[in-house]
Parts: sequence; C-alpha cells; structure tokens
Amino acid sequence: MLKVTRQTDPVLAGLLDEELSRQEHNIEMIASESTAPLAVMELTGSVFTNKTLEGYPGNRFQAGSEVADKVERLAVERAMDLFHAEHANIQTYSGSTANYSVYASILKPGDKVLSMRLDQGGHLTHGSPANWVSRFYHFDFYAMDPETELIDYDKLEEKAKEFQPKLIVAGASSYSRLIDYKRIGEIAQEVGAYFMVDMAHVAGLVAAEVIPSPIPYADFVSSSTTKTFCSARSGMVFCKEKYAKMLDKGTFPGAIGSIQLHTMAAKCWSFRYAKTEEFRATMQQVVKNAQCLAEELTKYGFRIVSGGTDNHLLVADLRSKHINGRDFQNALDSVGITVNKNMIPFDPEKPSVTSGVRIGTTAVTQRHLKEPEMKRIAAIMNRVAEAPSDEANLAACRKDAQELIAAFPLYPAGSFDD
Ligand SMILES: Cc1ncc(COP(=O)(O)O)c(C=O)c1O
Repeated sequence: MLKVTRQTDPVLAGLLDEELSRQEHNIEMIASESTAPLAVMELTGSVFTNKTLEGYPGNRFQAGSEVADKVERLAVERAMDLFHAEHANIQTYSGSTANYSVYASILKPGDKVLSMRLDQGGHLTHGSPANWVSRFYHFDFYAMDPETELIDYDKLEEKAKEFQPKLIVAGASSYSRLIDYKRIGEIAQEVGAYFMVDMAHVAGLVAAEVIPSPIPYADFVSSSTTKTFCSARSGMVFCKEKYAKMLDKGTFPGAIGSIQLHTMAAKCWSFRYAKTEEFRATMQQVVKNAQCLAEELTKYGFRIVSGGTDNHLLVADLRSKHINGRDFQNALDSVGITVNKNMIPFDPEKPSVTSGVRIGTTAVTQRHLKEPEMKRIAAIMNRVAEAPSDEANLAACRKDAQELIAAFPLYPAGSFDD
C-alpha cells in the first residue's frame, strides 16, 4: 500500500510504519476512535480524490460530474434508507462542519442556542468560547442533575422557556446514557425552537438499531462518520423534508466548498455495510463490552459517572483511587492502553487535570475483544491506578496488555504488504 511513498519519501513511509505498529500494539480506548475497514481505506485513497466538484447532482458548477453524480445519489439514497430519514446531505467534511452546516442553514448572527454544558459532555461546536460559533451566536447551556448525573430535563425546560432559544442542541462527547430525544423535541416545540441532535458519537449504534434513533424527533441530525460509525473521517446531516432546501443551501455554498468525493464514496460503502449482520453484531458487542468494563471497574472501586453506560463509552471518576485524569491517562499510555482524561460532572479539577477518564470500546470490539478481555483490561487498569509510579508494576502491566492485544490483529495479516 505504501510502495510509491516508500520509494519517494522513506522518512514519511517510516512514520506510517511506526503508526501502524503503535495502533497494532496498543489497546485503543479513546471513545471517538474506530478502525476504518479496508474498503474505506481503499476508497479514501482512490481516484475520486482527483475530482473537483461543487453543487449537487444534476446542478454542478464543473463538468465531468456524471460518475460523481451517481456516487452522491447512491450514497444519499443509502443514507436515507439506513437511518430512515426524510432527507440526507452527505457533503459535509466532518462532525464539526456538519454542525456548522446546520447553523448556517437556520441561524443568523446573534440568534440564541441552548446546548449541553461543555464540561459535562457537550462539544466545542456547541458553543465553546474557544470556537468561532460563540462569537456569532448567543449560547446558553443546560446541565446535569448533580445527583443522577443525567440531563436535568426539568431544568432544561425551565431554561428553554426563560431563554427562548432559536435552536436547542442535544448530543454529546462524553455522555454515557440514552438521551430522551422525545422530551427535548417537545420542549423545543413548546418554545418554538428548532431541535438539532448531534449524534456524532453514537451514529453507529443508531444505524445498527442498538440504541434509539433521534431522527423521528429532531428537525436536524448531524454526525461525524468516524467514531462508532467506523467509516471515513467525514460527516453527514439529516433533516425533515420540509427543511431539505435550507439544509442543502446552508451546506453548499453556506458552509463548505467542493465535495470530497473520496470520503463520500467511502461513506457510500459504509451506509451499505452498516446494514449487515456483521456490523450489527459488532455494535451490540460494543455496548456489552462497555457495560462489562463499567461493572468490572466498579468492582475495583472506581466510580462510574451515572452508575454505568448504555452506549460505547463510560466516564470513570478516579477520586476514590487517589489519582487524577491526567496522571491516569499518562500511566495507562505508558502501558499501552490509550484513553483520555475527561471532566466528570461538576469536576473540582481544571480541564487540564480532570478527575476522570473517558473510555470507549468501539475500536477494541472491532478487533473482536469480548467480555473476558474487558475483565483483563479492568484488572490492568486497576493495577496501574494502584501504583502509577512503580516502574516494576508498570512494566508488568505493559507485558500483560501487549500479550492480550497481540492475539487480536488490527487488520488481517498482509493487508498492508507492499
Ligand atoms: C458530539 C460531537 N460532535 C462533533 C464532533 C466533531 O466531529 P469531527 O471531529 O468529525 O469534526 C465531536 C468530536 O469529538 C463530538 O464528540
């Protein structure tokens, strides 16, 4: 696969080899990561990369679009069928630009948006002061109930009535429970707001019908296509038919330029693959693995935010183990388990330190790890947390982690032979 790069740029080829080896030998548990199937690799590296096109099938700004039009039409058709959506726009480049497409479609500068607190699971594009959206729109936030660590829907309703937003956003980066889309949709209707769900993290679980879909309840549903959807680094947006024209215009020319036909082709493949039994079984196991890991960690004395998980991720509160998120992330990294530090709801620590870590099970489940392996991983995590500065302990944990993952190849043998 790297034949030409190896000849023309051995330094870069070496870095590719290094990264492949890192991925192969690590237990990858960043909740937003997944492993792209080989077909997705092929398609993202295909001749579709060469084609520049703006506009939509049948109405392009450049010539030579006859094949591209077929690809986009097929992908849109498959996306709508898979997610039971009235309309799909698959031109957006990522989960972030999917959100920008929706904002560009319905908001004017100064409009009010109500979204989930960023330190409790919301995403940068949902109104972070560090993101440009907060300079154009007026954001306010809803929060968790401190007791249950679930969305406080009553307070959300109160806030929506008081704030009168034009848009309510649901969906999160580190929320491990099901979201009551119906309830938030009703609140949005009551206050005359649009309702958008950002399902970036859970799109694969939704596609496989392992968790409920937001599509029936939301005006707009945005998503990235990596994370649990396990496809190309790209995005997609769905909406009700009545908003189709607004969304298409808001996406192009509103938010993006030319289409990325190579990732569009990869998404097209994934929209078909997501209907297979293989994908469904993988997604079911992703949730089982996350639940097993949460139970095991609880047995070792970790506190799991909200008491468990309904999806592909869990957030562990580390305070009972007397280690912070940053140090635990680094100690786990040193033994070959990759997670990220994460705020817990109402975290007393700074975002650069945190009291928790977020752990996801998508990538390891794609490698066919199941409950027995989750138990072994929980045991290793506990040993790391008990003595994170003890070199002998870390070396033993590293050995166990490497032995465990070595039995589960990242890709079939020979996939990347030149
Ligand atoms: C809820 C949510 N929305 C959007 C995004 C952005 O997606 P992307 O990285 O594809 O731009 C993320 C990424 O982590 C996310 O968690």
